[in-house]
Amino acid sequence: MPFKIADDPQTDYRELVKNAYNRCAMNYAGQRRTTIEAELSLITEHLTPSSKVLDVGCGAGIPVARHLAETFSLTGIDISSTMIALARENVPTARFIIADVMETEFPASSFDAIVSFYAIFHIPRQEHLNLFRRLARWLRPGGLLLFTIANKDDGAGYTEDDFFGETMYWSNFGPSTYEKFLTETGFQIEQEGIVGGGYESVDAPEEIHPFFFAVKREGL
Ligand SMILES: C[S@@+](CC[C@H](N)C(=O)[O-])C[C@H]1O[C@@H](n2cnc3c(N)ncnc32)[C@H](O)[C@@H]1O
Repeated sequence: MPFKIADDPQTDYRELVKNAYNRCAMNYAGQRRTTIEAELSLITEHLTPSSKVLDVGCGAGIPVARHLAETFSLTGIDISSTMIALARENVPTARFIIADVMETEFPASSFDAIVSFYAIFHIPRQEHLNLFRRLARWLRPGGLLLFTIANKDDGAGYTEDDFFGETMYWSNFGPSTYEKFLTETGFQIEQEGIVGGGYESVDAPEEIHPFFFAVKREGL
């Protein structure tokens, strides 16, 4: 079976994700679409050259970190050391950190914007509310958040046997839960929509991802 419910108490799914990306980083990066301006314009049009931006689950840095680092001060964080090694080569002007976003800390209000493309759904969903609390703390009041999730609520989460040759793990709620999480953690949702396929050469027309664009409320 290519898909399995992720309910094995013996499996550390965070380690599984990290190790899988360490092994498939080159392959993933080689097939990733290399442009992203349209999606990022939601935030970039509100930023200035002195803005500080965090890219959560930045992968190999292309296209998101590279595009943002051309204008802004960019920090990328990723749990995979191989992805970060590639990102450092691809985007030498940015700062990159190898860490689990759930276990690292940044000073409060230290970013003007946070983006996360195709990464949050690899974190066990019972941690997602806490993740948004952390992102809200790291953003200044009025700061911007742009992220994608998976297309549907997937229950307990699942693994797929052949994601760029590796077993990979996903865990996601449906969009209405993220609306609640964002409101609860001090965000105002500005826009929801869909972004299409993230790959250049993989034929996956069904691959669509909801995105959220939200602003941290002033006075928080
Ligand atoms: C599908 S890739 C997306 C990479 C990049 N954002 C992009 O747009 O191509 C998901 C990335 O999230 C990272 N990731 C997964 N769980 C993470 C965690 N808990 N903390 C930090 N990074 C994580 C993975 O290592 C991987 O590089």
